[in-house]
Amino acid sequence: MSEGTTHFGYQTVAADDKEKLVASVFHSVAAKYDLMNDLMSFGIHRLWKRFAIDCSGIRPGHKVLDLAGGTGDLTARFSRITGPQGEVVLADINDSMLKVGRNKLRNLGLVDNIRYVQANAEALPFPDNHFDLITIGFGLRNVTDKQQALDSMFRVLKPGGRLLVLEFSKPTSELMSKLYDLYSFRILPKMGALVAQDSESYQYLAESIRMHPDQETLKGMMEQSGFEEVNYYNLTQGIVALHRGYKF
Ligand SMILES: C[S@@+](CC[C@H](N)C(=O)[O-])C[C@H]1O[C@@H](n2cnc3c(N)ncnc32)[C@H](O)[C@@H]1O
Repeated sequence: MSEGTTHFGYQTVAADDKEKLVASVFHSVAAKYDLMNDLMSFGIHRLWKRFAIDCSGIRPGHKVLDLAGGTGDLTARFSRITGPQGEVVLADINDSMLKVGRNKLRNLGLVDNIRYVQANAEALPFPDNHFDLITIGFGLRNVTDKQQALDSMFRVLKPGGRLLVLEFSKPTSELMSKLYDLYSFRILPKMGALVAQDSESYQYLAESIRMHPDQETLKGMMEQSGFEEVNYYNLTQGIVALHRGYKF
């Protein structure tokens, strides 16, 4: 890829344009995001998120950043665990997603320890060494400069803190890979058209997953940003991977 360009799904676009294109996808899907998530994953995204929480080491009183937090599934769980002494920041670049998230969490009665911040993962507006835990769930593949975003996360994490990256990844078996391709490119855009009247955003979803760094590449990128003891767990045969790394 030439300098100044990047991927938007399978298209090569000017790096400066990707943010706007991604923004239009999430403005378009925000209202139906939770419904589509449940339909597309047959509810399994809830188990992937639960596994991430189990690996988070989160405790009452912790400061947590749920980056690219969108409609706030992870934030809701973190808010209950960290309690009144803790703080959860739900940060997302997209105001439509943040609004849906804030309404949902308020309706759940979660108000006391959550802050909402509109921010780009590449340039986090938080002090150095601030958070005990950072999660980015299904967000990193949408970010234009992923290495810069990982550097930014490293900066705002406290020494001793951990980063969890939950993201679609590379299936570990040929058979699963073939079935998954069939599902993503034949069924998913049709489902998007039917339920959300938006097949293009779901076509982007399928393509962006294929263009995202695989398990080992992402591990290397986290190490390059300074994270240590980086490892990953393949979930649902590698359809999703949870990467975990520490700042010491
Ligand atoms: C697929 S949603 C994930 C939402 C939520 N974390 C979840 O797991 O359900 C991806 C989110 O990443 C956000 N996002 C995309 N690019 C971003 C960036 N550069 N900085 C922060 N958030 C970003 C989008 O606005 C969107 O809300």
